Amino acid sequence: MSSLFKSLMSRGGDDEEVDLEFDLANPESDCFELPPDRRDNQILAVWGSPSSGKTIISVKLARYIASQKKNVVLVLADMSAPPLPYVCPPSDLEAETSLGNILAAAHVDGNLIRQNAILHKKNEYLTMLAMLKGENAFSYAPYTETQARELLDELRKMCDHIIIDCTSNITGDTLSAVSLIESDAVLRLVSCDLKSISYLNSQLPLLLDNKFNANKQYKAASNISSFQADDEIEQIIGGVNFKIPHSDEVYRQFLAGNLFSGLNEKDSKDFRRAVSKIANEVFEL
Ligand SMILES: Nc1ncnc2c1ncn2[C@@H]1O[C@H](COP(=O)(O)OP(=O)(O)OP(=O)(O)O)[C@@H](O)[C@H]1O
Ligand SMILES: [Mg+2]
Repeated sequence: MSSLFKSLMSRGGDDEEVDLEFDLANPESDCFELPPDRRDNQILAVWGSPSSGKTIISVKLARYIASQKKNVVLVLADMSAPPLPYVCPPSDLEAETSLGNILAAAHVDGNLIRQNAILHKKNEYLTMLAMLKGENAFSYAPYTETQARELLDELRKMCDHIIIDCTSNITGDTLSAVSLIESDAVLRLVSCDLKSISYLNSQLPLLLDNKFNANKQYKAASNISSFQADDEIEQIIGGVNFKIPHSDEVYRQFLAGNLFSGLNEKDSKDFRRAVSKIANEVFEL
């Protein structure tokens, strides 16, 4: 484990430890059965196993909130495969400026964020912070948890709805790790397969820290196929707060790089319903 991650996770009180491990033989043992206290949620961190649909659901949640005429900031924190080039065409964006400029500053303030915010031409309620095409973690001066915390603090002053699309690998990504700690709620995605479960069983102990509030996590089963029966899902991953179905239309949008487009097909109805349910429950829109 990186020393940075260790130091991030090692502060806090002496509260009782929480067992975060899945028990495959006894799914009921998972400790996230009760919905978190949702009052005043402002920052939602979306995290979970690799390829579970974190970026897709983050974009769709942001789009839904904006469609309700509420301002939303979407932070695309992935620095290894920056999502901006595949979530929407560049022609939909105002001038592209990078999240890297914000984190590379000695201190993060509101002006710096505004200068590097990416506006979506078709949606006045939506603002994004993101790395740009071709950039990576070494494109800018290294940052620390100080800048990550300042970014979240400043965002809190600017907007009531903030969604952070985190990377799965929390040991290697400071912004994602800080987001998991500082957010008001975490939407934890898991695909319904044993590899995904193995990933979470491996990574969740890293969050076994007193200051990580396990009670703020919403569990979601993601990208559920029509052939996966409810009881099979329950058996694999235990109780969840939300179920996000697979949608062919979403998959085609992902391939085409236009995830901010609307979903019109009948088969997307359950996916759309899941998105509005999550947004309404987490943010009490
Ligand atoms: N609900 C869904 N409907 C259709 N396809 C989905 C759904 N959820 C995820 N996928 C598919 O899963 C893949 C990964 O999606 P996405 O990039 O959003 O996942 P991620 O968790 O952000 O991945 P990473 O760990 O690389 O950041 C894509 O191929 C996408 O089309
Ligand atoms: Mg992603």
